[in-house]
Amino acid sequence: MSLKLPNVIGHRGAASYAPENTLEGIHTAADMGVKWVELDVKLTKDDVPILFHDDELDRTTNGSGKVAETKYEDIQQLETGSWFGESFTGIKVPTLEEAIEVLIDRDLGLNLEIKPCAGRETETAEAALDILSQYWDERSNLLISSFQHGCLEVSLDIAQDWARGLLIGGEEIPEHFLDIADHLDVKTVNVSTSLANHEIVLEIIEKELTPLIYTVNDPIQAREYQSMGVKTLFSDEPDILLEHMLSVH
Ligand code: G3P
Ligand code: MG
Repeated sequence: MSLKLPNVIGHRGAASYAPENTLEGIHTAADMGVKWVELDVKLTKDDVPILFHDDELDRTTNGSGKVAETKYEDIQQLETGSWFGESFTGIKVPTLEEAIEVLIDRDLGLNLEIKPCAGRETETAEAALDILSQYWDERSNLLISSFQHGCLEVSLDIAQDWARGLLIGGEEIPEHFLDIADHLDVKTVNVSTSLANHEIVLEIIEKELTPLIYTVNDPIQAREYQSMGVKTLFSDEPDILLEHMLSVH
């Protein structure tokens, strides 16, 4: 079955309303009527896939140091809510497995961004896909994405029938990204707002790939991207976009 993308994907859950990459964020997105969420996965020192964005613990937990040098049993002791807001104090960093259970329970689609710490591309992709394969039967509501080509190569090797997305970002359009997209057999190219314009969107569509854009919180900008032919946007404030975007499929 082919990929059925929604118009709006909740970024890191619903990152303006609940701490990013948490079960609370997933529930918040679902409560808003969001159909899919984007979540980041990386490995603890002892190879447990957890939802986490940064390489360091400092910004979003009460711990410090590198995720890649911290065991899961120590990350489990931390809390990841109070940096965001007092009412979230005490919530925990979830494992990918815990997150998947909630996603299935809430009937949400998933864009899993594989975000390895440096040098851990292969094992992060393998561990995340291994967990997913134990739970995720549906093909139409799962997209595996990464900036790291090595992670997408692993996905192509071991989970070929799950849709892949190539992430591009930064200030300059990466050279040969469409050739890379072709080589990695991706369905989507997920483009940052810093790069997204009419030209790049058309280039992607002309290759029969689907352009997705991150991260869009302004409804006027959302409509502009829609007028360029973009159907799916990532947003920290998915409720606002759901209210203001035209519904296109
Ligand atoms: O997957 C889209 C977006 O999440 C990529 O950037 O840094 O927010 O993970 P980042
Ligand atoms: Mg991400």
